[in-house]
Order: sequence, then structure tokens, then C-alpha cells
Amino acid sequence: MEKPFRRRDLLGIRNISASEIIGILDTAENFREVNTREIKKVPALRGKTVINLFFENSTRTRTSFEIAAKRLSADAVNISVSSSSVAKGETLVDTALNLDAMDPDCIVVRHGSAGVPHQLANVSRAAIINAGDGANEHPTQALLDAMTIREHKGSIEGLEVAIVGDILHSRVARSNIHLLTKLGAKVRVAGPGTLVPGGFSHFVEKGMTVVPHIEDAIRGADVVMILRIQRERQDSAYFPTLREYSIHYGLTNERLELAKTDAIVLHPGPMNRGIEIASEVADSSRSLILDQVKYGVAVRMAVLYLATGGSASH
Ligand code: CP
Repeated sequence: MEKPFRRRDLLGIRNISASEIIGILDTAENFREVNTREIKKVPALRGKTVINLFFENSTRTRTSFEIAAKRLSADAVNISVSSSSVAKGETLVDTALNLDAMDPDCIVVRHGSAGVPHQLANVSRAAIINAGDGANEHPTQALLDAMTIREHKGSIEGLEVAIVGDILHSRVARSNIHLLTKLGAKVRVAGPGTLVPGGFSHFVEKGMTVVPHIEDAIRGADVVMILRIQRERQDSAYFPTLREYSIHYGLTNERLELAKTDAIVLHPGPMNRGIEIASEVADSSRSLILDQVKYGVAVRMAVLYLATGGSASH
């Protein structure tokens, strides 16, 4: 059987094929069952070492990778950048070379600058997994979003997906647009003009359109994906006030009525309640936000397993 994911590193969705994406999702489906057991542990990565190297804050991704590694019996090491030698001025490459000298099998990295995982992949013998690099990509988020959509819609092909919000700063949007269009969904993107990059539609695969209003994106959609306003990446005023943003681009029950009656709502978290999403929507039965987090563990188990040499039939 062909291995579904034949690369050592997972740097982004842009550079992998539809069949590799399906292979990762199918492997994650197999691992899902482990997470429902009383003893949530299998020996698949016994003797392997996974390092979590996070230069940016994280609740979901970091915890999820650590739990995934431990459920596969790997030794998981979390490095706190603030108490590491990075704080003494060590370069990124030197940090990577020194970690590599301890023979880890996998390094999971999150960094505020686009391209850092690619840089590490050039110098490290360990598999490098991108856990989010600047506004570039967040591949495991897109994979867990896809797993959530598949679970509730059966397949991704032919679905209409609205992605709304701060597209400019969103690695989640980029990875999702690559993944969803590769798997045959039609993606409609909406956000304030200042938060949708100029020429954006040219950089992604066909199957995506940019529309001006949230209503245009949501109308008839099967999936509504709302993005966080990333205030930590905004160095100037992209919209007058948060209240105005909420009035024009916030997802309310009234706006959600425009979507298909069985439409589902996704948000990668952390949410700004009352800004990009109303609590009435976030807490409704159509919101799958906590399912996304749950499937994140199975997806990261699959990614760690495949990147460290496992095959589809584990
Ligand atoms: N979705 C996501 O990446 O969340 P964290 O920043 O908490 O990891």
C-alpha cells in the first residue's frame, strides 16, 4: 500500500497533494478510537522523542501535540522559550542544531515569523512539524478542521465554505483555503478590505472567490468558518473600532440564517466572544468548536506517527 504521507516534514498544506491530505485524515480516523478508550495509550511511538518548541502562545495546539505524543507512548518535551537560551540571544538555527544534537525524532515548532519551520527543516535531522508560522500556514489546524467537516458532512468535495474575518493575518485561512480547494470545496472569503490581502485570489488554487460582505459569503454555505481578529499582529488600525467590526463582520444567529439549514460553524480559537462571533452562535448546537479541538488530538497523532516513519496501516 502507498504511504499516504511520504515526507519527513509537515511544513504546510500548500506543498502536499490531495491524496496525502486524505491519507493523513484516514490515519487520524484510525487513531480516534484510541482517544475513546479507558487507557488512552498505544505503543506506536515508543522510544521516540518529540520536542515542542513554541515561540508564540498556544493553548490548543501545544497541549494537543503533547497529548498526541504521549498517547502514542513517545517522550514529549516542552521547551519554554522564555526560560531557554533563546532569551540569551542564541540564534534560531543554533537552537535547532543544539536540539538536533540530542537526537529527537520530531520537532514541533510555532513561530511568529513565516518560514521558520522551513529553515529548521534545512538544518535538522528530526522531522519538523509546522504548528503555525506567522501569517503563513497552520497545517494541523486545517487538517483538524477538515476532519470535523468530514465527520459532519461526509465529504468535502462540492461543499460551499465561507471563511470570514481577518484573512490578512490568518495562517488558518491560508492552510484551509489550500486544503479545501484541493479537496474540491468552493470557498468564499469575506472581510474588511484592509484585512483581505490585495491579489489574494491569485496565490491560492482555483475554487476561491473574495466577496465584499459577510452575507455574500454565508448565503447558501454548508460550512461557516469564522476567524479571530488577531490584534497581536495588527500594528495599525485596520477598522475603526471593534464595535464596528462586530456590526459589519460578526457572526450572529440572524446572519447564520442565510446559510443552509444544516450549516455548521467552525472557529479555530481562541474566540473573541461578541466581536467576530456572538455567544448565541458559539454556544449553539451548530457550533463544532469543541469538536475541532477534540479531533485535533487524533490529527496530531496521525501527523506525528506518519512523520516519524509510520505507515497508514498501524
Ligand atoms: N487554534 C490554535 O492554534 O489555538 P492555539 O493558539 O491555542 O494553539
